[in-house]
Amino acid sequence: MNKIIVAIDGYSSCGKSTIAKALAKYAGYTYVDTGAMYRAIGLYTLREGLKSEQDIIAALPHVQIGFIHVDGMQHVTLNGEDVESLIRTLEVGNRASEVSQIREVRQYLVAQQQKMGEQKGIVMDGRDIGTVVFPKAELKLFLTASPEVRAQRRYDELREKGETPDYEAVLRDVNERDYRDTHRDESPLRQAEDAIVVDNSHLTREEQMKVIYDLFDRHK
Ligand code: DC
Repeated sequence: MNKIIVAIDGYSSCGKSTIAKALAKYAGYTYVDTGAMYRAIGLYTLREGLKSEQDIIAALPHVQIGFIHVDGMQHVTLNGEDVESLIRTLEVGNRASEVSQIREVRQYLVAQQQKMGEQKGIVMDGRDIGTVVFPKAELKLFLTASPEVRAQRRYDELREKGETPDYEAVLRDVNERDYRDTHRDESPLRQAEDAIVVDNSHLTREEQMKVIYDLFDRHK
């Protein structure tokens, strides 16, 4: 059976990783969370106190990012350390969004991501997968949901983790991150011309997965 590449792009908190993970399981493919890679670099720069672009670029050869499986879940590693839970905070998310604007950071990670897709059979999610990483991906999905729906989802996620977020602050953060992701000079988030748009603001998880599994079955 021919394996394909599935590229999933979209705004933050629109459920990309949940969808990508479920699709990878359905297809028997490998899932790669590229946001986790930018977050791991963000965490590294916070820990090391690196602020200037120049210092961040100089540190890249010292940043090794990998993935491991823990209880069936994918965790990202930073220089061999499992940092999965440390990278899922608002602070690291914002830092990831900042470092992702640096051309050399993107080049460093894109090269690794392209290598991961050499054998196909991959579901990768991010912001530039269908446009830059795999412009020839056989199936490209662009996920969207309204900022309010996404803020509510992120708010619920943070509450589940025991944090006490403020909804208005989370919404502001979603809007700011959208702005940065779509207006940066380097590989801004945009829909590939041949991407299929899925707006999941008003879809249940089951409805949405049915749409996506059907699309996959038609493209594989
Ligand atoms: O999907 P996420 O929230 O984990 O991503 C964190 C940040 O990383 C996001 O603000 C933008 C950036 N990112 C990117 O620029 N390109 C990608 N392929 C994935 C994430």
